Amino acid sequence: MDEKQVKKRRIVLVPVPAQGHVTPIMQLGKALHSKGFSITVIQTQYNRVSSSQDFSDFQFITIPGTLTESDLQNLGALQFLIKLNQICEASFKHCFGQLLQEQVSRDDIACVIYDEYMYFSAAAFKEFQLPSVIFSTTNATAFVCRSALSKVNADKFLMDMKDPEVQNSLFPGLDPLRYKDLPTSAFGTLEDSIKLYGEAVNTRTALAVIINSASCLESSSLLRLQRELQVPVYPIGPLHIAASAPSSLLEEDRSCLEWLNKQQPTSVAYISLGSLGLMENKDMLEMARGLSNSNQPFLWVIRPGSVPGSEWTESLPEEFSKLVSERGYIVKWAPQMEVLRHHAVGGFWSHCGWNSTLESIGEGVPMICRPITGDQKVNARYVESVWRIGIRLEGELEKETVERVVKRLIVGEEGADMRKRAIDLKEELEASVRSGGSSCSSLDNFVKSLKTKNF
Ligand code: UDX
Repeated sequence: MDEKQVKKRRIVLVPVPAQGHVTPIMQLGKALHSKGFSITVIQTQYNRVSSSQDFSDFQFITIPGTLTESDLQNLGALQFLIKLNQICEASFKHCFGQLLQEQVSRDDIACVIYDEYMYFSAAAFKEFQLPSVIFSTTNATAFVCRSALSKVNADKFLMDMKDPEVQNSLFPGLDPLRYKDLPTSAFGTLEDSIKLYGEAVNTRTALAVIINSASCLESSSLLRLQRELQVPVYPIGPLHIAASAPSSLLEEDRSCLEWLNKQQPTSVAYISLGSLGLMENKDMLEMARGLSNSNQPFLWVIRPGSVPGSEWTESLPEEFSKLVSERGYIVKWAPQMEVLRHHAVGGFWSHCGWNSTLESIGEGVPMICRPITGDQKVNARYVESVWRIGIRLEGELEKETVERVVKRLIVGEEGADMRKRAIDLKEELEASVRSGGSSCSSLDNFVKSLKTKNF
């Protein structure tokens, strides 16, 4: 047989260097690899995925970046992304040019899939005339919101948001989201958010948009997005069910699974704020007091650097360690999906990052929502008032409210109803990625479009 005929077509992936983005794009890579494509990952030198045995069939290329140590320490997440887009365009083009010259012909590349926040890469695809597709790691509702936010007048919006009545009122056209649920960022100014969102929602020359979501979760937002964008939208999630791909950037502490084995079924509150969330000393202490008073066991992920001014937990008072040692277990990073799957876990106290939200629903675990920034606020609103599988905790953290919310979710009847709804949703999600399910068909349609070059 002619060698050309057996050669697999290649898909190039361009991830954002952050855990919440790397995880789903690598899962997408696995899903497409299983459909017969070769995968190349072009990544920056910040937070690289290693070519471990899980990805031994993937090719990895690193593009140089020139952010200084002080940039890396001081830039907030938004400014980091904006700067990354400014400095990487030329090196990415160069790197891509070399790949085409030395290793693959242009015709071998089926398409390039880039994270919506790596929009600098679109310049290279335009120059080399390669088909490109945008991957959004958030859901369709958040995408629609970012598009709406990118059009607001920053001064007026900021002025409106000073009024608590406005904050709590519905944002026109985005029911059930209120002004305060919109995905503004806590890691930069509103102007920065508007600038970044404007760039990210611009489809430029992309042929399609892939979303890590499923129509059973947000069919009307998906329809709306499809209407608003001029290109096809493929909801193919949840990718963690469709294609698992271990890509943790931090070392997982598996000892917590043994600790979970010793706990009663659905008794444990699992707490994690994802890969970027921070928590002040005083909130940590109030939370430890409330958790302890709830009498429920708890597993708490405290990432190094997540308590400002402290390497880990050393700045917390003696009382904190005492409270935690009585009923809790702390790790620096957990094997989250296995934790959520564990029968001892009764609820997830989460910042509601989209991956964590999908993983929680995917295991039928109800949530306590404490969003910090961006799309997490949108997700929290949906968890609480659309899917009704969680409780949002607002305002100052006080031990009484913490105790109450943990009891409501883990031992109360209300929590039991939420768990039932979460389990129903889990079943719907599993059905959507099975053969004939909506996400599975959407992925097949995407692959068909790649093969026929007809989107
Ligand atoms: C951010 C946004 O919050 C998210 O909505 C967006 O889609 C991507 O960028 P992040 O804040 O890190 O992501 O949260 P999340 O989306 O929940 O992703 C965190 C990932 O880290 C999850 O896949 C989770 O399983 C994993 N994790 C977290 C661990 O593996 N171990 C832990 O201890 C904590």
